[in-house]
Amino acid sequence: MRLDKYLADSGLFSRKEAGAAVRRGRVTVNGEVCRDPSVKVDEKTARVEADGKPIGYVKFRYIMLNKPTDTVSTTEDDPKSVMKLLPPEYQKMDMFPCGRLDIDTVGLLLITNDGQTTHALLSPKHHCEKTYRFECLPIDEDARLRLEGGLELSDFVSKPCKVSLTDPTHGEITVTEGKYHQVKRMFHAVGSEITYLERIRFGGLELDPSLERGQWRELRGDEIDTILKLAK
Ligand code: URA
Repeated sequence: MRLDKYLADSGLFSRKEAGAAVRRGRVTVNGEVCRDPSVKVDEKTARVEADGKPIGYVKFRYIMLNKPTDTVSTTEDDPKSVMKLLPPEYQKMDMFPCGRLDIDTVGLLLITNDGQTTHALLSPKHHCEKTYRFECLPIDEDARLRLEGGLELSDFVSKPCKVSLTDPTHGEITVTEGKYHQVKRMFHAVGSEITYLERIRFGGLELDPSLERGQWRELRGDEIDTILKLAK
């Protein structure tokens, strides 16, 4: 791959900055200064340094965001886009949210530039579990059982799922589908309404309790392994 792409993928430079750094002689490849951004490097074996610091090759990035309310899961240039919560260098890495949360839903949102894994995690055949903490208008045991059993909605029948209640207006729901407004529509179908929705688990990832709303961090290696395994 081209040297400027290698450097841009590391996240430390935009493609333009990478080109400029190379032309200024700040970058070495296998110990030799290289001033040509288009030079091909082997990302598996090359030793690349910028300003004397080793730059390892990173193919994909995985970010856990604690999505705040009033933000939208889009890559569009919208002032409310969740992408605006990431520093500018991440915005140059072709990253996108893995699925969507509604504007008023908060919590765990994975953001990545790994298209294949995203596709797999969102595909119905992988049954990726998503757990939401909710607040709702009061529901009783009969409604809970109806939610769990699967409900006929206008355009699909929801798959069986798990619903636990801590009291008639609070609980957790784990679904394996990701249809538009799914949880809200399911509660509506049993005569309730969701008044608060927070995703706390997604495909084996747990929302990091140390992240405040609007904060993000890169996934740890074990967390990346978890989602890659699930996406196989
Ligand atoms: N279900 C919903 O209704 N909304 C979300 O944001 C996620 C799941």
